[in-house]
Amino acid sequence: MSDPRDLYLDLMKRSLLNLIYGDREVVYANPASPVKRMVFAAVRAQGAEVVRRKQFDAEVRQSGRDWPTDGQTMLSMKRLENVQYCVEQAIKNNVPGNLIEAGVWRGGASILMRAVLKAHNVLDRKVFVADSFEGLPAPDADKYPQDIGIDYHKMDELKISLSEVQGNFERYQLLDEQVKFLKGWFEDTLPTADTGPLAVIRLDGDMYESTMDGLEALYERLSPGGFIILDDYVMLEPCRKAVDDYRKRNGITEEIIPIDFAGAYWKKQ
Ligand SMILES: C[S@@+](CC[C@H](N)C(=O)[O-])C[C@H]1O[C@@H](n2cnc3c(N)ncnc32)[C@H](O)[C@@H]1O
Repeated sequence: MSDPRDLYLDLMKRSLLNLIYGDREVVYANPASPVKRMVFAAVRAQGAEVVRRKQFDAEVRQSGRDWPTDGQTMLSMKRLENVQYCVEQAIKNNVPGNLIEAGVWRGGASILMRAVLKAHNVLDRKVFVADSFEGLPAPDADKYPQDIGIDYHKMDELKISLSEVQGNFERYQLLDEQVKFLKGWFEDTLPTADTGPLAVIRLDGDMYESTMDGLEALYERLSPGGFIILDDYVMLEPCRKAVDDYRKRNGITEEIIPIDFAGAYWKKQ
């Protein structure tokens, strides 16, 4: 690799993962656990006994199997590479539209979207950054029985404020007018958000409700040739179920391509 653009984006991904300095400590599931790959599911289903605090391990971090204390994304390197790939393909193929991530936590994947636009000197696309900035919603058992039992809303680690996320964009000098924040529950913000057509949609809300709200509000805005990325399609059943239900209801047949143990995506024909 010698192209300065590739070097910048490579360093960006490594910085967002905090591979450069390494976190003070990390949280991840006990490797002996049958759910070792499912950090979220492990935390939820089995509680603290399967979760250990350990020294930073760069390989674990790259594979996305820990939960960063300092890094700005919980994605794996493969899922970050997928973000870059989808945005670069959309630029290369002139797929019209903006980019959105719904479910941003500390902002890492959205920061990378903005960095890719910057690296390619794209001035006419925006990045929409949608989150409650207060964590996940409590399950709505009547409307979405698929989420019953999920208690991510109790996890303080998932409650990252808008100002902290903006501060993270600022650290990379990527907080500007091409970044738009949508604060609130997806069901309230996404249907009326003035996103215009979209070239890349990234849904990372973990739950059935959050995934379905994202699909229903945004998928029709995705331009042909654009990409939809589902961070949890492989790993979390409620997310997979929402995607499968939505695809069935709308006759969507594009091939779903797995990224790693957690995520998947497809290209809209
Ligand atoms: C797994 S984290 C996102 C990880 C992030 N993409 C990254 O790069 O590390 C899930 C995020 O989705 C948000 N979220 C989930 N469901 C939501 C909803 N229905 N409305 C608003 N925000 C939601 C949470 O607040 C949380 O920040």
